[in-house]
Amino acid sequence: MPENDTQIVAVVGAGTMGPGVAATIASRGIKVRLYDIKPEVLDRARGTVETTYETLLGAGFLTQDQAARGKEGLTFTLDEKEAMEGADFVIETIPEDLEIKQSFLRQAEQLVSEKTILASNTSGIPITKLSEVCRQPGRVIGMHWSNPPFIIPVIEVIRGAKTDDATVKATRELVKRLDMIPVDVLRDVPGFVENRILYAIMREALHLLDQKVASAEDIDAIVKWGIGYKLSVIGPLELLDVAGLDIYHSVASYLNADLNASSEVSPIIRDKVAKGELGIKTGKGLFEYQSDEIPALMKRRMRLLLNAKRALTEGE
Ligand SMILES: NC(=O)c1ccc[n+]([C@@H]2O[C@H](COP(=O)([O-])OP(=O)(O)OC[C@H]3O[C@@H](n4cnc5c(N)ncnc54)[C@H](O)[C@@H]3O)[C@@H](O)[C@H]2O)c1
Repeated sequence: MPENDTQIVAVVGAGTMGPGVAATIASRGIKVRLYDIKPEVLDRARGTVETTYETLLGAGFLTQDQAARGKEGLTFTLDEKEAMEGADFVIETIPEDLEIKQSFLRQAEQLVSEKTILASNTSGIPITKLSEVCRQPGRVIGMHWSNPPFIIPVIEVIRGAKTDDATVKATRELVKRLDMIPVDVLRDVPGFVENRILYAIMREALHLLDQKVASAEDIDAIVKWGIGYKLSVIGPLELLDVAGLDIYHSVASYLNADLNASSEVSPIIRDKVAKGELGIKTGKGLFEYQSDEIPALMKRRMRLLLNAKRALTEGE
């Protein structure tokens, strides 16, 4: 059974999520090795870590001391053995593919000690399934960060059917050391909690768009200002109590039957994917983007997220 007082973390995969995960952990004085198989990805990750610290420092979410400790304690490597040797905790942020993740976990067990925890940042693959290839499934756990990982303060801690209590305890402790909120996912259901709720919203939003009930801009406006804004202060279950369960009962009695419950992917998405209109990365998706405007757009969203976080935490 793993016992873990995390001193050294290996973050495996330096794409979208890895650098932000690594930078966050290193800023708390924990040694981090960020590993990827591609040199160009690792080079880009160095820049991303720098920008992450600058952004957080500028917004007052990190101290100079934390940023300095982070830069000192974070190393980058293309050598898997070097990354894993002596690590107490491994977090994989490699592609969302069962075979790739299982093959990594199988290999990882050869390189780490008996006590090392193996955590996956999978967005929804059941942890029990991932751990099937491991000799010690008790050390395998889900640690699901939200994007951008250095801003969104919740991390889902997902217990697989064979995950040990000690693994859950050590993972929760690590999340708390990062000043983040651990959310216990007690049953290993696909998509866990965050993505199940998010995908329910997205399915209905796409259905409304497909049925021409409102434009894409207006659907997003109502979700941002009518739902999201409110939900950042009061959760949906708390909201039910405020609205009155009798009111919900009356509305849900006729509305639930009309909501989209299709198990198929929306025709809009199938069509766009077939045409190669994949969103920001191709300049066109549900909206259109000029490539020279994208960095400013992303920066603006980051700034707004940080402003909202400040307002919410200061208002506590
Ligand atoms: N992108 C998001 O918004 C987001 C949010 C939450 C969770 N996740 C989850 O995090 C994981 C990573 O997602 P991402 O978007 O960062 O992926 P990504 O494709 O941007 O990055 C994956 C990286 O892993 C590297 N890699 C592949 N195989 C490897 C191996 N065997 N060893 C080391 N490195 C390897 C690749 O070179 C790549 O740089 C996925 O499971 C995803 O579902 C993603």
